[in-house]
Amino acid sequence: MQILVLHGPNLNLLGVREPQVYGATTLEQINAALSQRAVQRGATLSAFQSNHEGALIDRVHAARLDGTAFIVINPGAYTHTSVALRDALAGVAIPFIEVHLSNVHRREPFRHHSYFSDLAEGVIVGLGVLGYQLALDAALERLNAPAP
Ligand code: DQA
Repeated sequence: MQILVLHGPNLNLLGVREPQVYGATTLEQINAALSQRAVQRGATLSAFQSNHEGALIDRVHAARLDGTAFIVINPGAYTHTSVALRDALAGVAIPFIEVHLSNVHRREPFRHHSYFSDLAEGVIVGLGVLGYQLALDAALERLNAPAP
């Protein structure tokens, strides 16, 4: 059971970047916790972050052939701009959950629209790091992974 976690631009700066908005946890810590949680449930998790739209698209394409059964994605600012990344997810037809650390609906109007939400199995916003854990649990549930 292979789960892919994708992080979009600037999320490599987590822990440093606007901690009042995004929290103090680093991306490394998030990925390590998710990986551990997945392994406990008999799944494997791979994580990928990029600041480049094309690299994220290439990783989504690769997921079609590498056994990825579910994707958890925080597209960062590409949420609000990227038809291309949306099309990639639609193209590979792998179910995904969209996660945002901050409550984008409480922020600037340009963050209120997502190019991903209508394709997503579910959307989690505003719960910080917990949102990733909940998304992973939901993915594992969908994939019928046995509980620990
Ligand atoms: C974000 C919200 C986006 O609007 C922003 O551009 C990000 C992070 C979040 O996790 O809250 O980079 O996706």
